[in-house]
Amino acid sequence: MTEVLTLQAVTAGYTGIPAVRDLNLSVASGEVVAMLGPNGAGKTTTLLTAAGVITPISGTVTAFGRPLHQRLEHNARAGLVLVPDNRGLFHTLSVRENLALARGSVDHALELFPALKELMPRRCGQLSGGEQQMLAIAKALVRRPKVLLIDEMSMGLAPVAVQALLPTIRALADDWGVGVLLVEQHIDLALSIADRAVVLHHGRAVLTGPADELRADRHAVAEAYFGTSTTPALTTEQPPTAGSPGRRREPA
Ligand SMILES: Nc1ncnc2c1ncn2[C@@H]1O[C@H](COP(=O)(O)OP(=O)(O)O)[C@@H](O)[C@H]1O
Ligand SMILES: [Mg+2]
Repeated sequence: MTEVLTLQAVTAGYTGIPAVRDLNLSVASGEVVAMLGPNGAGKTTTLLTAAGVITPISGTVTAFGRPLHQRLEHNARAGLVLVPDNRGLFHTLSVRENLALARGSVDHALELFPALKELMPRRCGQLSGGEQQMLAIAKALVRRPKVLLIDEMSMGLAPVAVQALLPTIRALADDWGVGVLLVEQHIDLALSIADRAVVLHHGRAVLTGPADELRADRHAVAEAYFGTSTTPALTTEQPPTAGSPGRRREPA
């Protein structure tokens, strides 16, 4: 698998104050990496930095083997596309008009979200939360992403609506080879479709590993998520075997 997005020792934040510290993270094509963590952990800051919206205080972001371009549009054209947590939609415009703003062929997007076809003339503001999220992802797909950065799909959505969208995210990775960095509050749902996951806490990656391993050890995830004290489950952890990325607990 080719690495399409790499964050190396990235420290990033606002007005020089770090919200994310010393973060190492990579996404390969065809891979879904879930980013978990409580509110304020630095998930959005990480995505904004990965998309080039925020310039890191230190460290480097590389997309498709090159440092990010200064101009956002340039990165987007290269295939780095962000679906922001506010979904980036225009509520007074129709579904068709929203898709047209992404300037590309909508055919592929509609293939993945056929339900949108009937909604084309509908005003975005009249859609359900789930339909809006579908539209937000479809709009990103019109840009033919190679890397998709998705921020809190579940914002305002019932778990059942998130559950309905997640297989499409998996299909994007499997069928189109898109690398996905998925920020998601529903831990189990995210881990169920992700290949790997990283848990952020106070701006640091405190736990990383294959999604199925983290899924099997909810205790470790909860502990990393909430930042409680060390547990035997983690301190007795065996080193990862050769050839497996393994689970890794970062030093505090
Ligand atoms: N525009 C901003 N200006 C200053 N601080 C910010 C801004 N946005 C977020 N922060 C701070 O950065 C930290 C990380 O926030 P964020 O990345 O939004 O977390 P998450 O997405 O995990 O909830 C928080 O302490 C938050 O208050
Ligand atoms: Mg956020």
